[in-house]
Amino acid sequence: MAGERKGLFITGTDTGVGKTLVTAGLARCLRDRGFAPGVIKPVETGCALRNGKRIPRDGSFLKHMAGATEPIEEIVPYRLAAPLAPQVAAEREGVRIQTRRLQSAFRAISSRHPFILVEGAGGILVPVTRRTTMVDLMKQFELPVLLVSRIGLGTLNHTLLTLYYLAQHRIPVAGVVLNDPDGCRDLSARSNPATLEQWTSVPLLGNIPCHKGTRMTRGCADEIARRVDRYVDVDGIIRRMSRFGPLVPNEAFHRKRLEELKDLKGKIDIQVDLKRSRRRSG
Ligand SMILES: Nc1ncnc2c1ncn2[C@@H]1O[C@H](COP(=O)(O)OP(=O)(O)O)[C@@H](O)[C@H]1O
Ligand SMILES: [Mg+2]
Repeated sequence: MAGERKGLFITGTDTGVGKTLVTAGLARCLRDRGFAPGVIKPVETGCALRNGKRIPRDGSFLKHMAGATEPIEEIVPYRLAAPLAPQVAAEREGVRIQTRRLQSAFRAISSRHPFILVEGAGGILVPVTRRTTMVDLMKQFELPVLLVSRIGLGTLNHTLLTLYYLAQHRIPVAGVVLNDPDGCRDLSARSNPATLEQWTSVPLLGNIPCHKGTRMTRGCADEIARRVDRYVDVDGIIRRMSRFGPLVPNEAFHRKRLEELKDLKGKIDIQVDLKRSRRRSG
């Protein structure tokens, strides 16, 4: 598993935790490094109607940040109205979500790009159809997962529950990114990173602070990319993806980046360590 394709399935402990911010920021960072990532948001709900068309905001922002040329209908195969879980939103509209269609969209996009970023909807057990949850999509796409968690009180429970369930299903986890959408500066936020590192060997790949006024819009695009580059170990993510096959980065970018990194102390170094989660699930 996860040996065929290069990419990440970005999921979250909840909705509104920062999946789109992280996916979009990563897409731009990869693009800036000379990769042309593909992006896909298999199902998006809460899509407003504009000129007779359902507009998926997450998918449109991902397309913009990745510089993807695929039509939005391919990047977001199911665009649903109600701001509900995919299964429920689809049933309300009489739409039958076909996982086969999701897979063929995924295969088509990933065949054109060296790297693909998938943004899930909600958390890992969100129902996609009557028989399928996000976990099943992760298995079908055969990608390692990047988990985005909201920093603060409650995140230890949400993060560990999610990681344990993924381990039970033997889904490889590339790492966890903490994000602070709400400006949480209490003791829990300060202690979360160290406590998570005590409780799991899944690496912490980033800790993104709150930046008030952030929206998933083109006006915030540069700022989001800058922050993901600064607070997420993008190069570590690329390194671990590279073990699935050669990715040749843009050399000029890397020379500049190496210069910058000389000044950055305490940047988290990443190791692939799935042993512990495998032991737990075995
Ligand atoms: N680091 C942050 N600082 C400030 N606001 C943020 C941050 N991350 C997310 N947000 C806010 O939270 C909202 C939800 O983030 P988003 O990435 O869309 O979450 P998800 O994709 O998990 O639903 C965003 O529209 C933005 O307004
Ligand atoms: Mg989103």
